[in-house]
Amino acid sequence: AFSPKLKICCIGAGYVGGPSCAVIAYKCPDIQVTIVDINEQRIKEWNSDNLPVYEPGLDEIVFACRGKNLFFSSDVDFHINEADLIFVSVNTPTKKSGLGAGFASDLAYLESATRRIAKVATSSKIVIEKSTVPCKTAESMRAILDANSNDLIRFDILSNPEFLAEGTAINDLLHPDRVLIGSLTTPEGIRARSVLASVYEHWVPKEKIITANLWSSELSKLAANALLAQRISSINSLSAICEATGADVDEVAFACGLDSRIGPKFLKASVGFGGSCFQKDILNLVYLSESLNLPEVAAYWNQVVIMNEYQKERFTSRIIKSLFNTITNKNLAIFGFAFKKNTGDTRESAAITLIKYFLRENANVRIYDPKVPKEQIVRDLTDPEVASVEKFNQRVQMFDCPYEAAKGTDAIVIVTEWDEFKVLDYQKIYGEMNKPAFVFDGRSIVDYNVLKKIGFKVSVVGKAI
Ligand code: UDX
Ligand code: UDX
Ligand code: ADP
Repeated sequence: AFSPKLKICCIGAGYVGGPSCAVIAYKCPDIQVTIVDINEQRIKEWNSDNLPVYEPGLDEIVFACRGKNLFFSSDVDFHINEADLIFVSVNTPTKKSGLGAGFASDLAYLESATRRIAKVATSSKIVIEKSTVPCKTAESMRAILDANSNDLIRFDILSNPEFLAEGTAINDLLHPDRVLIGSLTTPEGIRARSVLASVYEHWVPKEKIITANLWSSELSKLAANALLAQRISSINSLSAICEATGADVDEVAFACGLDSRIGPKFLKASVGFGGSCFQKDILNLVYLSESLNLPEVAAYWNQVVIMNEYQKERFTSRIIKSLFNTITNKNLAIFGFAFKKNTGDTRESAAITLIKYFLRENANVRIYDPKVPKEQIVRDLTDPEVASVEKFNQRVQMFDCPYEAAKGTDAIVIVTEWDEFKVLDYQKIYGEMNKPAFVFDGRSIVDYNVLKKIGFKVSVVGKAI
């Protein structure tokens, strides 16, 4: 029988917990990893051939380890109690109501998971916060756990933020730029952090495993995401200048990115960033700054989000203007619904906001995305803040094929940068569209000269064509 050197329990089988702990199991055959979730359906899916998270390379890793040293279970209490190390990877969405609504994170799931640990643990545990959380969350976790510890049981708390990006999660996990572990600097804190470091040392070079105090670690996660999002808002702000002047944002980004102090990544102009992290983390930072009485700091970071919303509005206005100032009853093909390519995740996707605007103008939208399940599109677009069910039924159609989606439309709007959109037969698409036929490329991924030659009227983010 398998007698593991260490037992890990991960609470939360989502986009973060699932892939990150699957990779730990894959790289550490001597460790037993169990991922638990209160959502039984989700656990069933993790135990099936059809995993609930789409991520290139994830299937192979899960199928290689599942049943050996990787398990998925809805028996949360049992596996908490059995584990030496517990990762907390539950969701922490932005609060929708109450104090801090629209900015602060909803920590109810995190607190309930922490209370569960306090309640069921009968031996000492190292508890690791993995979900992105506002600063000082470790402190609250400690308060809950300490109140429930005794001479025989102690809880050590570590912060180990996850920096993976969706769509490249497996590669990011196998080859991380760094692994960050925050801890207290007490002897117990240092001991706990070396236990966690020993897990990563199975595959991550030692010099990439860095340590910090708990607050630095928590803040670094928010800061890293804020800095990345800020680069996107910066280039998107420049895209507006480019469209107005005839400069080309891709040329500007290339020229700037060659400066080694700036670097080429995260300078791709777009319809605006999405995803579960960027906006949430910046709003967290804004909320934190305000609660620390630092209004200038709050305003600075808030501008990154304002610019992102502006980019989506600006793109919409450009579409309406090009279509002779009205899109009412016109047909728009939406290419891509995910917040980025190579994921089926739609959280905060720019597509949702754009379609919201299109529906307000009473346009008809025909959506194609290669990975997003149709039920998810329905859920996102029938959110009361987006559109009514009646409007959705009246105006929205979903397709399994981009050619079908584009048939009879006046315009194609490219929202997600899926590679397949670069190699479609646009000649064929053109033949089946209303004329004049428009393409609005919100990702600057297609060759606009080719499209123009076919006969399309083309608009590209950050270019004046
Ligand atoms: C800058 C640009 O770097 C250079 O490419 C351009 O051609 C001219 O403007 P310069 O102003 O000479 O060069 O110096 P730089 O090293 O950029 O520093 C500018 C200011 O920023 C200095 O006051 C410096 O102390 C400060 N700085 C720089 C910081 O406060 N923090 C940093 O991390 C870097
Ligand atoms: C991000 C961080 O990259 C990751 O380190 C953190 O752990 C979680 O948040 P993720 O949101 O999964 O990851 O994807 P990311 O690649 O960062 O893209 C976020 C959004 O920015 C997407 O909508 C993407 O299309 C957009 N983006 C990204 C741009 O518009 N331009 C760019 O140059 C880069
Ligand atoms: P993330 O992108 O942060 O991974 P997800 O929403 O994809 O977020 O995943 C979080 C998971 O955590 C969900 O599947 C949710 O059911 C689970 N979860 C939330 N609270 C608890 C809890 N107290 N115990 C176990 N699982 C939980």
